Amino acid sequence: MSILETISKRIEEKPIPSMVAFQILKVIEDENHSLKQVVKLVENDASLTTEVLKVANSATYFRGMPVNTVNRAVLVLGEMMVVGVAICASSSIVFNSALDGYESPEGDMWEHSLRAAIASREIAKYTKNKVPPGLGFTSGLLHDIGKSVLSEFLIGSTQSLTEACEERKVHDFLEAERQAVGTDHAEVGCQLAEKWGLPIALKTAIKYHHAPSKADAKHIALAYTVHLGDLIAMLGGSGTGVDALAYKIDNNYENYIKIDKDEFSVILLKVQEDFEIIKESLLT
Ligand SMILES: [Fe+2]
Ligand SMILES: [Fe+2]
Repeated sequence: MSILETISKRIEEKPIPSMVAFQILKVIEDENHSLKQVVKLVENDASLTTEVLKVANSATYFRGMPVNTVNRAVLVLGEMMVVGVAICASSSIVFNSALDGYESPEGDMWEHSLRAAIASREIAKYTKNKVPPGLGFTSGLLHDIGKSVLSEFLIGSTQSLTEACEERKVHDFLEAERQAVGTDHAEVGCQLAEKWGLPIALKTAIKYHHAPSKADAKHIALAYTVHLGDLIAMLGGSGTGVDALAYKIDNNYENYIKIDKDEFSVILLKVQEDFEIIKESLLT
């Protein structure tokens, strides 16, 4: 079996993280859905109900009145954020494992993904065509899922990949991955998202988070949002191992996102603050 065939097999074998998250995604894909349908799905899942209420009442969202009902919590958080919470709370296999091929210890992937999610949610607020912040959050959360599959195939070549980046023999770490195994974590992540039945917006954000200019017109602003969200997570000191900062920033984000240096710095601080709060509300 070739490496690519083995990678496809691993994608097939990866368990779907959260059924309820995908049921919610299915419902909200239909433009005519009602909030009631989403609330019902959350209420049918006791642990998700607890998580959603916890996050809605955490200091990040708390606005003076305690949120006691799922209905209010979904209104406060937004539907896509609820999906993000469901995925976060239920997918330790994807997010908590060590990524040995990236020399990234257990917990790093989760930390990087959550920071990128918060940063993408904040960046979304500055997009010119108004990317929904909740969609930014969920896209940021999932952007690197391909690493959970690709990691094992990079074991043994990690050092040569890093050197290829340092010596500028390749454009970025993604290209180094392609040279080593014939595909990269963005492509593999997109295939995984396809297998899980995720909507096109999420698949596109995952596939093009390092090459946002290649995304189609409808999703390009979202791809740039996650591109910057990922960068902010890495700048905040949270990558997923050897590849942190071995990517190039695409400055054409300015065509889709109107943000200045000061606003950027504010987001960096906000990510740090919210990360601690959301992490605590999800872990306690
Ligand atoms: Fe990535
Ligand atoms: Fe990343």
